[in-house]
Amino acid sequence: MADWSSGYVSEIDYTHGYYSELCPGRAQTAVLTAGYKAPALTRICELGCGQGFSSNLHAAANPGIEFHATDFNPGQIANARALAADAGTHNVTFYDTAFADFAEEPGLPDQFDVIALHGIYSWISPENRQAIIDFIAEKLAIGGLVYISYNALPGWAAAMPLRRLMVDHAARSNGPILPRIGEALDFADKMAGQAKYFTANPVLKERLEKLKGQSRHYLAHEYFNRDWTPFYFADVAADMAEAKLSFVGSAHIVDQIDAINLTKDQQALLSAEPDRIRREGLKDFIINQQFRRDVYIKGPQKHDLLSVRDAWSATRFALSIGRDDVPMKVTGALGEADLQPDVYTPLLDALANGPASVDQMMRADKKIADLGWPRLMQAMAILSGSGNVHPCLPANGEADRAARTRAFNAAVCARAKTSTSLNYLASPVTGGGIPVDRFGQLFLGCRQADEPDPVASVWSLLKLQNQRVVKDGKPLQSEAETVTELKQRLAEFEENRLPVLMKLGIA
Ligand SMILES: C[S@@+](CC[C@H](N)C(=O)[O-])C[C@H]1O[C@@H](n2cnc3c(N)ncnc32)[C@H](O)[C@@H]1O
Repeated sequence: MADWSSGYVSEIDYTHGYYSELCPGRAQTAVLTAGYKAPALTRICELGCGQGFSSNLHAAANPGIEFHATDFNPGQIANARALAADAGTHNVTFYDTAFADFAEEPGLPDQFDVIALHGIYSWISPENRQAIIDFIAEKLAIGGLVYISYNALPGWAAAMPLRRLMVDHAARSNGPILPRIGEALDFADKMAGQAKYFTANPVLKERLEKLKGQSRHYLAHEYFNRDWTPFYFADVAADMAEAKLSFVGSAHIVDQIDAINLTKDQQALLSAEPDRIRREGLKDFIINQQFRRDVYIKGPQKHDLLSVRDAWSATRFALSIGRDDVPMKVTGALGEADLQPDVYTPLLDALANGPASVDQMMRADKKIADLGWPRLMQAMAILSGSGNVHPCLPANGEADRAARTRAFNAAVCARAKTSTSLNYLASPVTGGGIPVDRFGQLFLGCRQADEPDPVASVWSLLKLQNQRVVKDGKPLQSEAETVTELKQRLAEFEENRLPVLMKLGIA
């Protein structure tokens, strides 16, 4: 283990994840949903950015914002810088500086409007957590927000000994971590057949099965660090209070909507608790929360009845999938709930024509105007929380943003020729990431290069690398089968994905 890593798994790189909670526009919508005024964003800092894909993508799609991101793993930062260089993204700076030293980094702005840390707080030592609190106390502007995610209690309580069992098994030997993770999983499986711990906690067998199917790289970082601490909400809120921060709401917007997470009786139980922090902690018990994604603000300002409507009115939204593909369901802690057609059909129909602000939708359709503000605001929050409707940036400046996202998306599509790791492209309309898989990226690359026969071009690329197309979990063997499959995927892409990507400024 390298000595800069303070017990953090550093021998294997982290995955190239994209996290929509880090999207500036989405964070502002989470704040608005909670009824607070969102800060204007000019400087954003990400702590522990991993491969830096989210910061890279958001910098390309938000050229008016300066991004600074650090991760002490130099291999990951080299990858992040290479993507920024290939895409010509100049408003992002990546550092390989440890949290404890980051405030001293020359060239770092004095103040940030956002400090974001995703998947960090539970996986570092108490000293590093304190370094983060000190950094926030020094560097967050008044009115600025912090996004923080972490493993939560009580949701993790039953599985904590399972993690310990695997970590202790892996620690019995030295050498590369990946094979030791496989051995630890096999050992846990053997124990699951014998130990009363597993019979007393039946959910764990299911969890173990799920772990076996997950990427070993992901598991290394998620489970096999020296430091690994799930937290009660109140304890993190107390840490944040040290930096003068107040809890605002969940960045995972659907978590804010009681109607889909709590029964009437559960809501009554919670409303009897007047203290906001205790109430939020009790909610974690009620839904057995495992992972929290929270927004805190230094000096939060509540909207009043009129300003909250103005803020929703002005916000534009866009669909990220075809209108007919939007499920009329939403999933909360209570399970799946139906979206009422009289509320959601007119909204989705309005967005089918392209991005529109709430005000534009209300003017265009009386059914929307007649919904009334409480229902309208809740419906837009549920739609944006479901991930199929995205808050958008103002139309002003879109051409400028599009020039930047075109270059970024070209760099990502070029990587798709040899890699499956980057699964999002940047939208100049939303300022965030839109899922596009490797084949979609390859087809887009062909389209941009005016390739006359995208199927032949993609197939020759795969052949060159001895790669096969996988269908229903099995690699296709013959050329004829592969070409038929690729033709079908291209047709499906052109019919369903392309029109949406065009509306989002990606194609
Ligand atoms: C679980 S990963 C999360 C990465 C990224 N935020 C994501 O969610 O994809 C944690 C990251 O924190 C970085 N890290 C851990 N301790 C650190 C420290 N003391 N200073 C800087 N980076 C650190 C690791 O290198 C790793 O990339």
